[in-house]
Amino acid sequence: MSIRIRLILLFSLLSGFVKALQTTPPFKEYSFNKYELESYKEQVQNLIYYGLDNYLHYGYPYDEVKPISCIPKSRNFENAGDLPTNDVLGNFTTTLIDSLTTVAIIGDKQKFKELVTLMKDTYPNSNFNIPATIQVFETTIRVVGGLISAHLYATDPSKKAYMNPEEYDGFLLTLASDMADRLLPAYLTSTGLPVSRVNLRYKTGRIPHDQLYENNVAAMASPMFEFTMLSYLTGDSKYEQVTRYAFNKVWSMKSRLNLLPISFNPEQRLCYSTMSGIGASIDSFYEYALKGAVLFDDAELYRIWEDSYEALRINSKSDWFYTNVEANSGYIVTNWIDSLSAFFPGLQVLAGEVEDATLKNLMSLKLWNTYGGIPERWKFESDKDNNENKDNPLPLEWYPLRPEFIESTYFLYRATRDPFYLNIGKQILNDFQTRFKSKCGFSGIQHLLHGTSQDRMESFVLSESLKYLFLLFDENNELHKSRDNVIFSTEAHPFWLKPKQIRSYKIAAKNNDPLYSNHLIQVKLNEAKYLKGLHKVKAGSKLKKLARQIFDSGIDNEEAIKPNPKNSSNTERPFNNGMCKKIISEYANGYTLPSSPLLSRLNVLFDIDRRYNNTLIRPEYLKDYQGMEIRNGFYSHWADPKYSKSKVPATTESFDLIFDYTGDYESPIEIDNDILKCKSFNGRRKLRLERVRPGTVDTFGNRYSFEPFIELDRKDVTKKTCDKVDELYSSAVLYRAAMLDGIPLSENGSIHINKSAIIVHEGNDTTDDIDISLGMNRNNQLLFGCIPVVNIFLE
Ligand SMILES: *[C@@H]1O[C@H](CO)[C@@H](O)[C@H](O)[C@H]1NC(C)=O
Ligand SMILES: *[C@@H]1O[C@H](CO)[C@@H](O)[C@H](O)[C@H]1NC(C)=O
Ligand SMILES: *[C@@H]1O[C@H](CO)[C@@H](O)[C@H](O)[C@H]1NC(C)=O
Ligand SMILES: *[C@@H]1O[C@H](CO)[C@@H](O)[C@H](O)[C@H]1NC(C)=O
Ligand SMILES: *[C@@H]1O[C@H](CO)[C@@H](O)[C@H](O)[C@H]1NC(C)=O
Ligand SMILES: *[C@@H]1O[C@H](CO)[C@@H](O)[C@H](O)[C@H]1NC(C)=O
Repeated sequence: MSIRIRLILLFSLLSGFVKALQTTPPFKEYSFNKYELESYKEQVQNLIYYGLDNYLHYGYPYDEVKPISCIPKSRNFENAGDLPTNDVLGNFTTTLIDSLTTVAIIGDKQKFKELVTLMKDTYPNSNFNIPATIQVFETTIRVVGGLISAHLYATDPSKKAYMNPEEYDGFLLTLASDMADRLLPAYLTSTGLPVSRVNLRYKTGRIPHDQLYENNVAAMASPMFEFTMLSYLTGDSKYEQVTRYAFNKVWSMKSRLNLLPISFNPEQRLCYSTMSGIGASIDSFYEYALKGAVLFDDAELYRIWEDSYEALRINSKSDWFYTNVEANSGYIVTNWIDSLSAFFPGLQVLAGEVEDATLKNLMSLKLWNTYGGIPERWKFESDKDNNENKDNPLPLEWYPLRPEFIESTYFLYRATRDPFYLNIGKQILNDFQTRFKSKCGFSGIQHLLHGTSQDRMESFVLSESLKYLFLLFDENNELHKSRDNVIFSTEAHPFWLKPKQIRSYKIAAKNNDPLYSNHLIQVKLNEAKYLKGLHKVKAGSKLKKLARQIFDSGIDNEEAIKPNPKNSSNTERPFNNGMCKKIISEYANGYTLPSSPLLSRLNVLFDIDRRYNNTLIRPEYLKDYQGMEIRNGFYSHWADPKYSKSKVPATTESFDLIFDYTGDYESPIEIDNDILKCKSFNGRRKLRLERVRPGTVDTFGNRYSFEPFIELDRKDVTKKTCDKVDELYSSAVLYRAAMLDGIPLSENGSIHINKSAIIVHEGNDTTDDIDISLGMNRNNQLLFGCIPVVNIFLE
């Protein structure tokens, strides 16, 4: 009797215990131990199924599902001119094709097989013979890239999604080749540069002129990556040859500063816009130069990457983002940045530039903190003229759930293992579960200032955004253990090649298509003729005087010639060089890091908030939304109070000087992280000086007293005109170099320049710009307008 009672009691205790297990997660929030990561991974996986199943139920066989109204979003059959819709929606099941690799990556073999079967049912004749006009670039990255990558998964025995030869006959690759063959006629122009659109059935025949002859750099260059991969897989080199010719041709249209204008007429080589930068219309040019170099082991592509990246460093790099600049002059031309540029830190990680990537990615974090998404365009500075939208910080106010910020966060996490990035992922996961989830999928935000939703779910939500979020939490994904050189396409489809494949392609590949081999011969002849016609000798290359003072965020030149009236702090703190190494060694034993390096040791974590407080204003409806980095649980868990502090804001003024000497640019050589050495000073140079006075706080947070000023022999100047400079004899002002050509100097860093490379030009100043003169004092310090630059030495 009594035994029985006890048993019952025990049973009820146990069931209570089981219940408790179910309701409280078996991990402490923000510990980011493996249980917590596993839980987030599963939550993302559920979101992926939610979006995909809704598409299959309500959207298929059309291109997308409308997440709010639960009906298909199809091509606009009535209005062929509805380009934003029709460019990507060819009535060819875009979401299905773009999602294949997402299912492969989460490792659901059963579902992957089902989708491949569904593809087979959808395309029984293995072709895209559809009378749709679509954009070549978008179709390449979503359809050709998606099919190629899914084919790789289906045929690689080391992958979970592998299908044996009885189950899979290479049909996805057949489809990819068919699509590529339908896109390739876009390249049949007299220059070999592609037009922007083709009709999958009628080629370029029935397309209005204005829909063909304006094309951008990303669109003209990028298909090289997917098409070259297709050549490797099929042995047919025409895809590579045609698109690679166009890629190189695009690069040949760069300015003398190695900056590419974003938009051209591919037939006439006319440039439509000379703006350059890293965002929309040019982004994947850089991406594929570097990724192509790695995937195809290609030194020529790597040189293009290096040269184009260097040009960005000199001309476009700013403290927290890369600005849009005019390709010929390098001057800043817009006061906004766009959402697509958030991808760049991820690419910088691939290039080994983790430090700068960390800073640039913080900008996206602050945008998300403020607006709950990444605005299509955000103004970092109010408009100067008095137009009615002067104070609207978002010239383009939507966020269609684009992946770029998640992508960069994922790559930064893989490189640093800093839990800071997991915390970003946790917030984004939460936003997907609450703010973006709707009845039949995920809705982007139409207006970030009001929080209104879009009735659209573009295919990149499943193909990229949720895929990168999944991978962020999935420590053990097979991609993370692979020894292949896995490279993600710009649509997040993983590509990989084995050295053996590269070797055998180089030996055996052939272009057997006379149409395209003859065409290539013809465009090369055209090119030679065109070059002959150009003036060979450029106008007298007299030394151009340097001499424009451009402030870091100055837009118009009028503003730029005066010293910055504000006490701005616009120099970044170059934090701990070799940070990456340090973090990795601290992490070597698993998750034992006591603190987040970013949260604890980056003392500029809140500089963006301060500096852009005029245009980073959280809308009212998000007033309870808190900055991720100061969430209570996260902060208390990961900040190290011993080091965790913000730097005192600088009260010095900083400004950039642009030097424009003739001759070829030579990068400064870095010695021991402390000295930048310039053998010559030819080409475009950008030097940031900080103006320091006694009592001011510099960009490193040091307050200056009088001593260092008095020590300097201030009368010892080479030019007579300096006698007129009152400041020399007053309480003093000094300059300090803070950055050269985008390379930040450390706190005690200095620049050493070959004297004859800089002073010899002095006599040739014209006087139309500001009155500056260069000289040297007895300490070999450069004098700028008679004031010593304390850490530039002429030798
Ligand atoms: C679009 O695709 C659907 C489904 O495959 C098909 O029924 C329809 O005929 C197509 N529409 C056009 C105009 O091609
Ligand atoms: C800049 O700072 C100095 C010293 O702190 C101060 O005297 C001056 O008024 C400030 N200028 C502006 C424009 O705020
Ligand atoms: C931005 O910061 C400045 C200086 O601290 C302050 O005067 C200004 O009111 C702030 N602007 C906004 C919109 O908060
Ligand atoms: C720079 O030099 C000062 C004075 O010699 C020293 O106190 C400081 O630690 C140095 N800073 C760095 C980053 O090395
Ligand atoms: C310094 O510059 C001059 C003139 O450009 C050049 O002839 C000389 O070789 C340079 N010296 C060094 C050490 O590079
Ligand atoms: C200035 O330029 C002239 C040619 O325009 C040249 O002859 C002269 O040597 C230059 N002077 C200096 C100091 O470089």
